[in-house]
Amino acid sequence: MRLAMPRRLRGTIEVPGDKSISHRSVLFNAVAEGNAVITNFLTGADCLSTIACMRAMGVEVEQDGTTVRVHGRGLRGLQEPREVLDCGNSGTTLRLLTGLLAGQDFFTILTGDDSLRSRPMGRVVEPLRALGARIDGRQAGARAPLAIRGTRLRSGEYELPVASAQVKSALLLAGLTGEGQLRLTGKIASRDHTERMLAAMGIDIRVNRTQIILDPPAHPVFPYPLSLRVPGDPSSAAFWWVAGSIHPDAEITTAGVCLNPTRTGALDVLRAMGANLTVTNERMEGQEPVGDVTVRSAALGGTTIEGDIIPRLIDEIPVLAVAAAYANGVTTVRDASELRSKESDRITTVVTELRKLGAELEPTTDGMVIAGGGELHGAGVESYGDHRLAMAMAIASLGAEGETVIADAGSVAVSYPDFWAHLEGLQHERAT
Ligand code: S3P
Repeated sequence: MRLAMPRRLRGTIEVPGDKSISHRSVLFNAVAEGNAVITNFLTGADCLSTIACMRAMGVEVEQDGTTVRVHGRGLRGLQEPREVLDCGNSGTTLRLLTGLLAGQDFFTILTGDDSLRSRPMGRVVEPLRALGARIDGRQAGARAPLAIRGTRLRSGEYELPVASAQVKSALLLAGLTGEGQLRLTGKIASRDHTERMLAAMGIDIRVNRTQIILDPPAHPVFPYPLSLRVPGDPSSAAFWWVAGSIHPDAEITTAGVCLNPTRTGALDVLRAMGANLTVTNERMEGQEPVGDVTVRSAALGGTTIEGDIIPRLIDEIPVLAVAAAYANGVTTVRDASELRSKESDRITTVVTELRKLGAELEPTTDGMVIAGGGELHGAGVESYGDHRLAMAMAIASLGAEGETVIADAGSVAVSYPDFWAHLEGLQHERAT
C-alpha cells in the first residue's frame, strides 16, 4: 500500500462492528437455547474464524454480509469436530474456545497461524487445569496447538494474575459447564462484554469491584439466545481519532462507537494530550453504551500512559504511539508488557517501524519512551502480519513528508476489511 500526506481529511465513518462483541455474539449464541440474529457483525478474518469453528461443531450459522443468524444448540449440544479447529490469527477465538470446550464431553484440537502459535496459552491452560481440565499442548500447554479432552470441571475460586479479558472469559465459559459456583478475583478489570452478555442471556453472574461470581445454569432454558446490533469498534475508531488529531486540516466523525468505559482509555489519553474530541448522540444499544465521536485537528502534547488505564487501551497503543510521535514533548508508556504477547511483539515492532519514518523512540521492558515533535518522512515499512501495526503505520504516513509504502498491508482484513476504502473516502469527502 502506497500512501502520502492528503490535503484534507473530512467525513463520517460508520465504524465496523466491535471485534470482541462479534466473537462473543457467535460463541455464546451457539450454546444458547434458540436462535439469534446479529447485525453489524464484523466480517474481519478473526470473527470469520470463530464462525468456521462453531460450524465445525455442528452449529448452523448463516451469514449474509454483516447479518449473522446463529441457531443455538444449547450448552450440551455441540458435536465433536472431525478436523483440527483452525483459529487463524485470532487469540480471542482460541482462548475463549479453550474455556468453552474444556467442559464438553468430546475431544478437540485448536491451532492457528504462526503468530497465534507463538502466543502464550499457559494463561488459560493453567487456570483451567486447576478446575480439572485435561489440556495438552506444545511446551507443556504453553503454546498451541492445544488438545482438549473434555471432562467434568470442578468449581472454585481463581485469582487472575493478568488483566486479560480473554483469560477471564475462558474461565467464565468453563464455569457455565462446571459443577458449582465459580469465583474470580484478582485482576478482573478488563473489557467486560462477556459479563454483560451472559447476564443478558439469563446467566446468574454477579460482578462487584473485587470479584465475579458465576453459577452454572440450573435449568436447561439457559442461556437464552441474545439478538443484538454490534456497536462500532472503538479500537478501529481510534485510528481516525489519531488521524484527525495529527493532520492539520481534518474533521472526522466516527459514528456508532461502543463507549463501554472498559474500552475508552484512548479517548482519555488523547484528551489529556490536547485532542479536540466531542462525543454526541450518547445512547444505550442493547448492553453497551454507544455514541458518535468527532475529532478536529489539534496541537498535541506528550503524556504518561501507565497503571490502571493500560487494559482500557491496550490495543490502541500502536496508534497512540503515532499520536505521541507527532506531539510536542515526551510520552512515556509503562506497565504495558502485555504488548509483547499480541499479534506481534508490539513494543519491538512499533519502535522499529516508527523509527523508519524518522520518529525518535526507545523501547523499554514494559513500554516505550517517545520523544515527539520531530518531522516524520515517508519510508518503506513492514506490518509483520499485524493488522493494528499496518493501520498505525498508515495513520503515521498521513502527517509525513513523502511516500510511505506498507508491505503486507492486507493484514488489516483481520479486524477492519474496509480500512483502506474508508481512508480513501476521507480524502475525497465521501461518506463511508
Ligand atoms: C480481547 C481482549 C484483549 C485484546 C484482544 C481482544 C477480547 O486481549 O487485546 O484484542 O476480545 O477479549 P487480552 O484479554 O489478552 O488482554
